[in-house]
Amino acid sequence: MISPEMRQTLIQKAEEIALNSYSPYSEFKVGCALLTETNQIYTGTNVENASYGLSICAERSAVFSAVAKEGPDMQLKAVAITSVPRSHLTSPCGACRQVIAEFGKNIPVIFPNGSTYIDVPLEELLSYQFILSV
Ligand code: THU
Repeated sequence: MISPEMRQTLIQKAEEIALNSYSPYSEFKVGCALLTETNQIYTGTNVENASYGLSICAERSAVFSAVAKEGPDMQLKAVAITSVPRSHLTSPCGACRQVIAEFGKNIPVIFPNGSTYIDVPLEELLSYQFILSV
């Protein structure tokens, strides 16, 4: 759980960072702001490439920044996502759900739903996360 104030802060930071998006191909700017267990906020945006498959989503960009700054024990508390233009539903893609799940156990994921934002527990977005067990 995070406070309504923190939720609003994350949304605002996601909206700000979305403006830095490099997305000349899709013209769809995505922003992500996440809160870690150390109460730090990290942001990321989508960065596209002429070789389309090399593009990276905003969420993975933010998660990888957080790990780079905090190290391998980094744990997520909440993740917020938005887009410009603001689409009806900008929820994280499947690949990003799996990456978020690596660092957070059933955390709130906040994203646009119509004219407002909703919080959805990660497990609702990704059941049966892949876990490497040999
Ligand atoms: N995108 C994200 O940044 N996050 C997602 O979860 C879905 C899609 C980006 C990738 C691409 O740059 C653009 O949105 C259009 O697909």
